[in-house]
Amino acid sequence: MKINGTHYRSLWWNHDAHVLEIIDQRWLPHEFRTQQVTSLQDYADAIREMRVRGAPLIGATAAYGVALAMAQDPSDTNLDAANGLLEKTRPTAINLSWALERCRATLLPLAEKDRADTALQLAHDIADEDVEVNRRIGENGLALIREIATRKPEGEPVRLLTHCNAGWIATVDWGTATSPMYQAHDAGVPLHVWVDETRPRNQGPLTAWELGSHGVPHAYIVDNAGGHLMQHGMVDMVIVGSDRTTAHGDVCNKIGTYLKALAAKANDVPFYVALPSSTIDWTVGDGLTEIPIEERPGEEVSQIFWGKNAADDITPVQVAPDGSPTANPAFDVTPRDLVTGLITERGICEASQEGLAKLFPEHARPA
Ligand code: MRU
Repeated sequence: MKINGTHYRSLWWNHDAHVLEIIDQRWLPHEFRTQQVTSLQDYADAIREMRVRGAPLIGATAAYGVALAMAQDPSDTNLDAANGLLEKTRPTAINLSWALERCRATLLPLAEKDRADTALQLAHDIADEDVEVNRRIGENGLALIREIATRKPEGEPVRLLTHCNAGWIATVDWGTATSPMYQAHDAGVPLHVWVDETRPRNQGPLTAWELGSHGVPHAYIVDNAGGHLMQHGMVDMVIVGSDRTTAHGDVCNKIGTYLKALAAKANDVPFYVALPSSTIDWTVGDGLTEIPIEERPGEEVSQIFWGKNAADDITPVQVAPDGSPTANPAFDVTPRDLVTGLITERGICEASQEGLAKLFPEHARPA
């Protein structure tokens, strides 16, 4: 998407320097900083520290990490070591292990001398595919938004609510939840997006920054406002992303998503999840018991993460009392019966084993 008239992806290959460049998302929305990722350890740190974040983006980043490892030492031992280091950076988003497994399966049968070039091309392919898949998710989601728009008086906006940042910077481009928003806005469908703050890491400001840069009308709200807005008929549809969706349709996403789904169910607001098929974990049925939930550092809770103060310094601010214990589960699971539908690159389906099997028959397993 465009920033000040320049088209960016959230990562890109610098062909002259032969190095990956990323947007260091920790500084957004206050500063737009880019960075080169120069060592395998730097790749692992960039993912763990959330310089890059969002399920599809960490998968694509990891693929470039494998390419760097193969350029340095294309042995089986080094392939396993690189996969191991990258995989343990963030445990919940399945796109990371999906990308690493795809790299491993492609590279292992090859002669060592062919691995570096193939790994780099594969990383480019994974990045390009992500862009196309998200564009298609947007087309499919646009149909839902148009349908709501036809039921509204002429010119009245479709009011969406989203949680976290499932935007273009959480993917390689377009985003998942935001792709239908961008496509609806570009098609002239009037929209208004409620953007949840998403404590503790405040991904909401990233979404607000994205939507603002694209001219999409929105309002930034605290996480506790969504239930009230839904009760008062001010939300037509919720669209969120996912870090891992099970073969049975349970949706793991940023902490707080479940509460929004409960409020949506109680108020008859459709609750949709936009996700690429790389986010589906076909080996898992029950999301509540089978998905590892990342526990992140307590400072993310005891402090407000990297705000801008009156002197324009970008700094953390402590909000909890000195020494207060904290807990910081980063994701939660929304059971499938709270999900109205899954918006994928192949179409929209019910959040169920049967629904997913219809769209992805190659993965269907007997119930
Ligand atoms: O912890 P984060 O910021 O990586 O979490 C991101 C999310 O939870 C997104 O909603 C999800 O990855 C979907 S991104 C297209």
